[in-house]
Amino acid sequence: MKARPKGSPESGIPDLRLAPAAVRRGPLPFVFVNMAMTADGKIAPAHRRFVPLGSPRDQAHLYELRARADAVMAGARTVDQEAVALGPGAARFRRLRLRHGLAEYNLRVIASGSGTLDPNAAIFRRRFSPIIILTTRQAPPRRLAQLRRLADAVAICGEAEIDFRAALRWLRRAWGVKRLLVEGGGELNGALFKAGLVDELHLTVCPFLLGGGAAPTIADGPGVEKLVDASHLVLQSIKRVDAELFLVYRVPPDCP
Ligand SMILES: NC(=O)c1ccc[n+]([C@@H]2O[C@H](COP(=O)([O-])OP(=O)(O)OC[C@H]3O[C@@H](n4cnc5c(N)ncnc54)[C@H](OP(=O)(O)O)[C@@H]3O)[C@@H](O)[C@H]2O)c1
Repeated sequence: MKARPKGSPESGIPDLRLAPAAVRRGPLPFVFVNMAMTADGKIAPAHRRFVPLGSPRDQAHLYELRARADAVMAGARTVDQEAVALGPGAARFRRLRLRHGLAEYNLRVIASGSGTLDPNAAIFRRRFSPIIILTTRQAPPRRLAQLRRLADAVAICGEAEIDFRAALRWLRRAWGVKRLLVEGGGELNGALFKAGLVDELHLTVCPFLLGGGAAPTIADGPGVEKLVDASHLVLQSIKRVDAELFLVYRVPPDCP
Protein backbone atom coordinates (compact mmCIF):
# COMPACT_ATOMS: atom_id res chain seq x y z
CA MET A 1 0.00 0.00 0.00
CA LYS A 2 1.74 3.10 -1.19
CA ALA A 3 1.35 6.45 -2.94
CA ARG A 4 -1.93 7.38 -1.31
CA PRO A 5 -3.28 10.56 -2.86
CA LYS A 6 -3.38 13.79 -0.91
CA GLY A 7 -6.49 14.34 1.18
CA SER A 8 -9.08 16.97 0.50
CA PRO A 9 -8.24 19.73 2.96
CA GLU A 10 -11.60 19.90 4.75
CA SER A 11 -12.14 16.22 5.47
CA GLY A 12 -8.86 14.33 5.20
CA ILE A 13 -10.60 12.12 2.60
CA PRO A 14 -8.40 11.47 -0.46
CA ASP A 15 -9.53 13.31 -3.58
CA LEU A 16 -8.22 11.53 -6.67
CA ARG A 17 -8.07 14.81 -8.62
CA LEU A 18 -5.23 15.76 -6.27
CA ALA A 19 -3.46 12.40 -6.63
CA PRO A 20 0.11 12.27 -7.91
CA ALA A 21 0.43 11.76 -11.69
CA ALA A 22 1.80 8.24 -11.10
CA VAL A 23 -1.51 7.25 -9.47
CA ARG A 24 -3.60 8.88 -12.22
CA ARG A 25 -1.69 7.12 -15.00
CA GLY A 26 -0.82 3.79 -13.36
CA PRO A 27 -2.01 0.32 -14.38
CA LEU A 28 -5.61 -0.82 -14.04
CA PRO A 29 -6.76 -4.00 -12.31
CA PHE A 30 -8.16 -6.88 -14.36
CA VAL A 31 -11.95 -6.42 -14.02
CA PHE A 32 -14.36 -9.34 -14.18
CA VAL A 33 -18.10 -9.06 -13.70
CA ASN A 34 -20.24 -11.91 -12.36
CA MET A 35 -24.04 -11.87 -12.59
CA ALA A 36 -26.93 -14.31 -12.41
CA MET A 37 -29.78 -13.45 -14.77
CA THR A 38 -33.08 -14.89 -15.88
CA ALA A 39 -33.71 -16.15 -19.42
CA ASP A 40 -35.21 -12.71 -20.15
CA GLY A 41 -32.07 -10.91 -18.94
CA LYS A 42 -33.34 -9.62 -15.57
CA ILE A 43 -31.20 -9.65 -12.43
CA ALA A 44 -34.08 -8.98 -10.00
CA PRO A 45 -37.83 -8.32 -10.13
CA ALA A 46 -39.08 -4.77 -10.71
CA HIS A 47 -39.38 -4.22 -6.89
CA ARG A 48 -35.55 -4.67 -6.83
CA ARG A 49 -35.47 -6.60 -3.57
CA PHE A 50 -32.96 -9.46 -3.42
CA VAL A 51 -34.20 -12.69 -4.98
CA PRO A 52 -31.81 -15.68 -5.13
CA LEU A 53 -31.97 -16.55 -8.84
CA GLY A 54 -29.05 -18.98 -8.81
CA SER A 55 -28.88 -22.57 -7.54
CA PRO A 56 -26.45 -23.72 -4.80
CA ARG A 57 -24.07 -24.53 -7.69
CA ASP A 58 -24.22 -20.90 -8.80
CA GLN A 59 -23.58 -19.77 -5.21
CA ALA A 60 -20.44 -21.93 -5.11
CA HIS A 61 -19.43 -20.46 -8.49
CA LEU A 62 -19.73 -16.95 -6.99
CA TYR A 63 -17.37 -17.84 -4.14
CA GLU A 64 -14.96 -19.59 -6.53
CA LEU A 65 -14.76 -16.36 -8.53
CA ARG A 66 -14.32 -14.29 -5.35
CA ALA A 67 -11.44 -16.65 -4.53
CA ARG A 68 -9.66 -15.23 -7.59
CA ALA A 69 -10.12 -11.55 -6.70
CA ASP A 70 -8.18 -9.17 -4.47
CA ALA A 71 -11.34 -7.08 -4.09
CA VAL A 72 -15.09 -7.44 -4.71
CA MET A 73 -17.10 -4.35 -5.71
CA ALA A 74 -20.83 -3.59 -5.79
CA GLY A 75 -23.07 -0.55 -6.19
CA ALA A 76 -24.87 1.19 -3.32
CA ARG A 77 -28.33 -0.25 -4.13
CA THR A 78 -26.92 -3.78 -4.08
CA VAL A 79 -25.04 -3.24 -0.82
CA ASP A 80 -28.16 -1.80 0.85
CA GLN A 81 -29.58 -5.31 0.79
CA GLU A 82 -29.43 -7.50 3.88
CA ALA A 83 -27.95 -10.55 2.14
CA VAL A 84 -24.88 -8.71 0.82
CA ALA A 85 -21.53 -8.78 2.67
CA LEU A 86 -19.17 -9.34 -0.31
CA GLY A 87 -17.02 -11.71 1.77
CA PRO A 88 -14.97 -14.76 0.78
CA GLY A 89 -17.43 -17.33 2.18
CA ALA A 90 -16.75 -20.60 3.97
CA ALA A 91 -13.34 -21.93 5.06
CA ARG A 92 -12.92 -24.03 1.89
CA PHE A 93 -13.15 -20.89 -0.27
CA ARG A 94 -10.77 -19.01 2.01
CA ARG A 95 -8.27 -21.89 1.64
CA LEU A 96 -8.74 -21.61 -2.13
CA ARG A 97 -7.86 -17.90 -1.90
CA LEU A 98 -4.66 -18.76 -0.03
CA ARG A 99 -3.79 -21.40 -2.64
CA HIS A 100 -4.22 -18.70 -5.31
CA GLY A 101 -1.74 -16.54 -3.42
CA LEU A 102 -4.38 -14.05 -2.23
CA ALA A 103 -5.18 -12.76 1.25
CA GLU A 104 -7.63 -14.96 3.14
CA TYR A 105 -10.26 -12.18 3.10
CA ASN A 106 -10.91 -9.99 0.04
CA LEU A 107 -11.17 -6.22 0.18
CA ARG A 108 -14.69 -4.85 -0.29
CA VAL A 109 -15.42 -1.82 -2.47
CA ILE A 110 -18.70 0.09 -2.70
CA ALA A 111 -19.65 2.66 -5.37
CA SER A 112 -21.88 5.40 -3.99
CA GLY A 113 -21.50 8.61 -5.99
CA SER A 114 -23.84 10.74 -3.90
CA GLY A 115 -23.25 8.84 -0.66
CA THR A 116 -26.84 7.55 -0.38
CA LEU A 117 -25.57 4.21 0.92
CA ASP A 118 -27.63 2.96 3.89
CA PRO A 119 -25.43 3.42 7.00
CA ASN A 120 -27.30 0.52 8.62
CA ALA A 121 -26.53 -1.88 5.78
CA ALA A 122 -25.50 -5.35 6.94
CA ILE A 123 -22.07 -5.08 5.30
CA PHE A 124 -20.99 -2.60 8.00
CA ARG A 125 -21.77 -5.11 10.74
CA ARG A 126 -19.48 -7.74 9.18
CA ARG A 127 -15.98 -6.48 9.91
CA PHE A 128 -13.65 -9.13 8.53
CA SER A 129 -11.84 -7.08 5.85
CA PRO A 130 -11.40 -3.43 4.83
CA ILE A 131 -14.38 -1.64 3.24
CA ILE A 132 -13.54 1.09 0.72
CA ILE A 133 -16.17 3.54 -0.53
CA LEU A 134 -15.82 5.35 -3.87
CA THR A 135 -17.82 8.56 -3.97
CA THR A 136 -17.92 12.03 -5.57
CA ARG A 137 -18.20 15.71 -4.70
CA GLN A 138 -22.00 15.19 -4.83
CA ALA A 139 -21.89 13.56 -1.40
CA PRO A 140 -22.72 16.22 1.22
CA PRO A 141 -20.04 16.79 3.92
CA ARG A 142 -22.19 15.22 6.68
CA ARG A 143 -22.63 12.11 4.56
CA LEU A 144 -18.93 11.97 3.83
CA ALA A 145 -18.14 12.18 7.55
CA GLN A 146 -20.63 9.37 8.25
CA LEU A 147 -19.18 7.17 5.50
CA ARG A 148 -15.69 7.87 6.82
CA ARG A 149 -16.74 6.52 10.23
CA LEU A 150 -18.30 3.41 8.67
CA ALA A 151 -15.63 2.49 6.13
CA ASP A 152 -11.91 1.88 6.33
CA ALA A 153 -11.35 4.32 3.44
CA VAL A 154 -13.43 6.75 1.41
CA ALA A 155 -12.15 8.29 -1.83
CA ILE A 156 -13.62 11.18 -3.81
CA CYS A 157 -13.43 10.06 -7.43
CA GLY A 158 -15.09 12.82 -9.44
CA GLU A 159 -17.50 15.74 -9.44
CA ALA A 160 -20.92 14.29 -10.33
CA GLU A 161 -20.12 10.73 -11.42
CA ILE A 162 -17.41 8.36 -10.28
CA ASP A 163 -14.43 8.43 -12.62
CA PHE A 164 -13.96 4.68 -12.48
CA ARG A 165 -10.76 4.72 -14.53
CA ALA A 166 -9.10 6.94 -11.92
CA ALA A 167 -10.73 5.03 -9.06
CA LEU A 168 -9.56 1.63 -10.31
CA ARG A 169 -6.01 2.89 -10.86
CA TRP A 170 -6.03 4.19 -7.30
CA LEU A 171 -7.34 0.84 -5.98
CA ARG A 172 -4.46 -0.90 -7.72
CA ARG A 173 -1.82 1.55 -6.60
CA ALA A 174 -2.95 2.27 -3.05
CA TRP A 175 -4.56 -1.07 -2.14
CA GLY A 176 -2.75 -3.56 -4.40
CA VAL A 177 -5.92 -4.60 -6.26
CA LYS A 178 -4.76 -6.52 -9.33
CA ARG A 179 -7.99 -8.45 -9.85
CA LEU A 180 -11.33 -6.81 -9.16
CA LEU A 181 -14.58 -8.80 -9.21
CA VAL A 182 -17.71 -6.69 -9.82
CA GLU A 183 -21.06 -8.06 -8.69
CA GLY A 184 -23.56 -5.47 -9.92
CA GLY A 185 -26.03 -4.13 -9.87
CA GLY A 186 -27.03 -3.04 -13.33
CA GLU A 187 -26.20 0.64 -12.90
CA LEU A 188 -22.65 -0.01 -11.69
CA ASN A 189 -22.03 -2.62 -14.41
CA GLY A 190 -23.42 -0.27 -17.07
CA ALA A 191 -21.03 2.51 -16.02
CA LEU A 192 -18.04 0.15 -16.09
CA PHE A 193 -18.90 -1.29 -19.50
CA LYS A 194 -19.47 2.20 -20.88
CA ALA A 195 -16.07 3.31 -19.58
CA GLY A 196 -14.46 0.30 -21.32
CA LEU A 197 -13.12 -1.07 -18.05
CA VAL A 198 -14.53 -4.61 -18.07
CA ASP A 199 -12.23 -7.44 -19.22
CA GLU A 200 -14.47 -10.46 -18.66
CA LEU A 201 -18.15 -11.21 -18.06
CA HIS A 202 -19.33 -14.31 -16.19
CA LEU A 203 -23.02 -14.87 -16.67
CA THR A 204 -25.24 -17.54 -15.16
CA VAL A 205 -28.48 -17.93 -17.10
CA CYS A 206 -31.11 -19.19 -14.65
CA PRO A 207 -34.27 -20.98 -15.75
CA PHE A 208 -36.78 -18.23 -14.94
CA LEU A 209 -38.58 -15.49 -16.81
CA LEU A 210 -39.46 -12.48 -14.64
CA GLY A 211 -40.64 -9.85 -17.12
CA GLY A 212 -41.24 -6.31 -15.93
CA GLY A 213 -40.04 -3.34 -17.95
CA ALA A 214 -38.63 -1.73 -14.79
CA ALA A 215 -36.76 -4.83 -13.62
CA PRO A 216 -32.98 -4.30 -13.58
CA THR A 217 -30.75 -5.97 -16.15
CA ILE A 218 -27.05 -6.80 -16.11
CA ALA A 219 -26.13 -3.37 -17.57
CA ASP A 220 -28.47 -0.45 -16.89
CA GLY A 221 -28.00 3.32 -16.90
CA PRO A 222 -28.21 5.34 -20.12
CA GLY A 223 -26.72 2.58 -22.31
CA VAL A 224 -25.79 3.25 -25.96
CA GLU A 225 -27.99 3.90 -28.99
CA LYS A 226 -26.01 2.29 -31.80
CA LEU A 227 -24.75 -1.27 -32.08
CA VAL A 228 -21.39 0.08 -33.17
CA ASP A 229 -21.06 1.69 -29.71
CA ALA A 230 -22.10 -1.51 -27.86
CA SER A 231 -19.57 -3.57 -25.90
CA HIS A 232 -18.60 -6.39 -28.25
CA LEU A 233 -18.18 -9.69 -26.43
CA VAL A 234 -16.26 -12.79 -27.42
CA LEU A 235 -17.77 -16.02 -26.12
CA GLN A 236 -15.02 -17.84 -24.27
CA SER A 237 -16.84 -20.81 -22.77
CA ILE A 238 -20.27 -22.24 -22.13
CA LYS A 239 -21.12 -24.95 -19.63
CA ARG A 240 -24.47 -26.44 -18.74
CA VAL A 241 -25.05 -27.74 -15.20
CA ASP A 242 -28.58 -29.08 -14.81
CA ALA A 243 -30.93 -26.21 -15.71
CA GLU A 244 -28.33 -23.43 -15.60
CA LEU A 245 -25.91 -22.15 -18.23
CA PHE A 246 -22.54 -20.75 -17.15
CA LEU A 247 -21.16 -18.40 -19.81
CA VAL A 248 -17.85 -16.59 -19.92
CA TYR A 249 -17.34 -13.70 -22.33
CA ARG A 250 -14.10 -11.85 -22.92
CA VAL A 251 -14.27 -8.13 -23.69
CA PRO A 252 -11.51 -7.33 -26.20
CA PRO A 253 -9.30 -4.40 -25.18
CA ASP A 254 -10.21 -2.32 -28.25
CA CYS A 255 -13.93 -2.75 -27.53
CA PRO A 256 -15.86 0.56 -27.88
N1 LIG B 1 -28.72 -11.26 -10.06
C1 LIG B 1 -27.57 -10.76 -9.69
O1 LIG B 1 -26.49 -11.35 -9.94
C2 LIG B 1 -27.53 -9.45 -8.95
C3 LIG B 1 -26.32 -8.97 -8.45
C4 LIG B 1 -26.30 -7.72 -7.84
C5 LIG B 1 -27.46 -6.98 -7.72
N2 LIG B 1 -28.63 -7.49 -8.18
C6 LIG B 1 -29.86 -6.66 -8.11
O2 LIG B 1 -29.61 -5.43 -8.77
C7 LIG B 1 -30.43 -4.41 -8.17
C8 LIG B 1 -29.55 -3.25 -7.82
O3 LIG B 1 -28.98 -2.73 -9.02
P1 LIG B 1 -29.09 -1.17 -9.37
O4 LIG B 1 -28.68 -1.01 -10.78
O5 LIG B 1 -30.43 -0.68 -8.94
O6 LIG B 1 -28.05 -0.51 -8.37
P2 LIG B 1 -26.46 -0.68 -8.12
O7 LIG B 1 -25.73 -0.68 -9.41
O8 LIG B 1 -26.24 -1.77 -7.15
O9 LIG B 1 -26.19 0.68 -7.32
C9 LIG B 1 -26.49 1.91 -7.92
C10 LIG B 1 -25.83 2.99 -7.11
O10 LIG B 1 -24.40 2.88 -7.21
C11 LIG B 1 -23.81 4.14 -7.35
N3 LIG B 1 -23.27 4.26 -8.72
C12 LIG B 1 -23.35 3.37 -9.73
N4 LIG B 1 -22.74 3.86 -10.83
C13 LIG B 1 -22.26 5.08 -10.49
C14 LIG B 1 -21.52 6.09 -11.18
N5 LIG B 1 -21.16 5.95 -12.47
N6 LIG B 1 -21.18 7.23 -10.52
C15 LIG B 1 -21.56 7.39 -9.24
N7 LIG B 1 -22.25 6.48 -8.52
C16 LIG B 1 -22.59 5.33 -9.15
C17 LIG B 1 -24.94 5.16 -7.13
O11 LIG B 1 -24.98 5.38 -5.72
P3 LIG B 1 -25.54 6.78 -5.10
O12 LIG B 1 -27.04 6.70 -5.23
O13 LIG B 1 -25.07 6.80 -3.71
O14 LIG B 1 -24.98 7.89 -5.95
C18 LIG B 1 -26.16 4.39 -7.61
O15 LIG B 1 -27.38 4.85 -7.08
C19 LIG B 1 -31.07 -5.04 -6.97
O16 LIG B 1 -32.40 -5.39 -7.31
C20 LIG B 1 -30.24 -6.30 -6.72
O17 LIG B 1 -30.97 -7.31 -6.09
C21 LIG B 1 -28.69 -8.69 -8.81
